[in-house]
Amino acid sequence: MQFDKQADIYDKRTGLGEKTVQNIASSIKQIIQPYLNGQFLDIGAGTGEIGYFLQDLATPYIGIDLSKEMLNVYRNRFDGNKKIPHLIQMDGNTPWPLKDHSVSVFFSSRAMHQLDQIHVLNQLKKLSSTSSILILGNVKRNKKSTKAFMRKEMHEILNEFGLKEKSGQSHRNHLFKALEQQGGERLPTITASCWQVSHAPIDSINSWKSVDGIAGQAIEPSIKKQILETLILKAQEKFTDLNQALETEETYELNAITLPYNQKNNN
Ligand SMILES: C[S@@+](CC[C@H](N)C(=O)[O-])C[C@H]1O[C@@H](n2cnc3c(N)ncnc32)[C@H](O)[C@@H]1O
Repeated sequence: MQFDKQADIYDKRTGLGEKTVQNIASSIKQIIQPYLNGQFLDIGAGTGEIGYFLQDLATPYIGIDLSKEMLNVYRNRFDGNKKIPHLIQMDGNTPWPLKDHSVSVFFSSRAMHQLDQIHVLNQLKKLSSTSSILILGNVKRNKKSTKAFMRKEMHEILNEFGLKEKSGQSHRNHLFKALEQQGGERLPTITASCWQVSHAPIDSINSWKSVDGIAGQAIEPSIKKQILETLILKAQEKFTDLNQALETEETYELNAITLPYNQKNNN
């Protein structure tokens, strides 16, 4: 399991930092104010970088994740004095083990695109309380940034190698569109936090080298080597110096939609 192997370095490699996650948690707490009539379900909770700051909600918190090791990192955040949150290791593509109509907030940060959309829609419908919301969080990069260029090139190279990369943005657009067609209402996007990053092309390459597989794909090391070599060539065409870092802004966005299910006076 890909995330099991990177659990120990996940926060260092892709973590958001304490200030950012505190901002995210406080934005979530504001958004969910009208939706406290059921449980809070964190889908793909990971190492709990965000979840750690969601333990004082006025509604019970439950986190699910496929990776045992990511959840171990999450549990280790809580020393002997703090109550360990309710975390369930499971594949989110199987039924979510909660009572029907018991969830009022479904939250997922950087993870929902790993799940099958039809399954997600079925689970939302089954578990939604009478007034519920889905909140999806993601990092947004300036399209002209070095990181965005490297990701785009990686995406194209993966396609050339016959590998399909799951895209968080297109998954979210499809999911929200399907929910809107059923009567869900989108809330304005919230930028929960923004920060400056200094990133060189070589940082992307080293980051991909440091994990098993690539961009969410489990692949043979020899194929990965070829992919990275192709990427290095493309990066060399674009940048004169792969070590030269450029500074850009990144933001963390929260996109939310009300769920049209199990409402009073409805179905
Ligand atoms: C990029 S991490 C995001 C973690 C955390 N939500 C965050 O934003 O820091 C994606 C998480 O989704 C989990 N995941 C991937 N596929 C999954 C699945 N089928 N069911 C449940 N969790 C899954 C991974 O184990 C990983 O912890």
